[in-house]
Amino acid sequence: MKICTTRKSLQGYLEQLKQDGKTIGFVPTLGALHQGHLSLIALAQQNTDVVACSIFVNPTQFNDPKDLEKYPRPIASDIEKLEHANCDVLFNPDVSEMYAGNEQWHLEIGELEHLLEGKFRPGHYQGVTQVVYKLFDIVKPDIAFFGQKDYQQFLIIQKMVGLLHLPVKLMMCPILRDADGLAMSSRNIHLSAEERQHALILSKALNWLKQNFDRNQIPSLKNECEAMISAEPGVELEYFEITDGDNLHTADSHTKKIVALVAAKVGKTRLIDNVIISWQLSVGS
Ligand code: PAF
Repeated sequence: MKICTTRKSLQGYLEQLKQDGKTIGFVPTLGALHQGHLSLIALAQQNTDVVACSIFVNPTQFNDPKDLEKYPRPIASDIEKLEHANCDVLFNPDVSEMYAGNEQWHLEIGELEHLLEGKFRPGHYQGVTQVVYKLFDIVKPDIAFFGQKDYQQFLIIQKMVGLLHLPVKLMMCPILRDADGLAMSSRNIHLSAEERQHALILSKALNWLKQNFDRNQIPSLKNECEAMISAEPGVELEYFEITDGDNLHTADSHTKKIVALVAAKVGKTRLIDNVIISWQLSVGS
């Protein structure tokens, strides 16, 4: 696997491949790679000729400096995993390679920015769009691959691509779960064995909702899930919402594309998870 730490070296490497007619798949990450990331690499390999992965712990998307500081950075084992997965090229820049001093960035994303995650992590999506815009500009991928676990992030990047007419196709890849149901996340390593057991309530509640969705009205289902999670020791619920999967407004009985999303703190670790309840295309779409 080729490893590039500068834009120039990455662009030089990709340029030749593009001239040879190869399509480029791109998997941007914060590192601390797990099976979920590797499934994105595999999907990229199925859909494009050359796969580029980036590992960059982007400071502008962390609204909590402590969270940024303790974000795991196991670069040697990440490189090993990518080599094992036959990734073609890794882009692993320094902060100074990505940002020149005090750059300003504001993208008018609309209300999506301020709902759910946006309420609890103000400024987060400005940082995400800022870095993803830069990465797309450097890599110029044909297709970029993102995980469903960050569902709101996917909607926001989709919105940015539309607003700025960026020539890239986006693909969302399913959430990967450990055998016990916990959604894979780089943050899971911070959970103690006991916290991990309590954290399972998130996927249990989402799963219960999916199984019981036709049995009650949406507000009652939401209440039941909230009660289930709040009753779990050591788990502090931030939100549980049953939403329209296009705009994240609260779903009602007419909503076709329903996604339930949850965020909670388990001990000091903040976790998110979601489930697609129904994914029916509306007539004419
Ligand atoms: O989802 C992530 O890992 C990050 O938010 C991303 C898309 C790599 C931007 O830093």
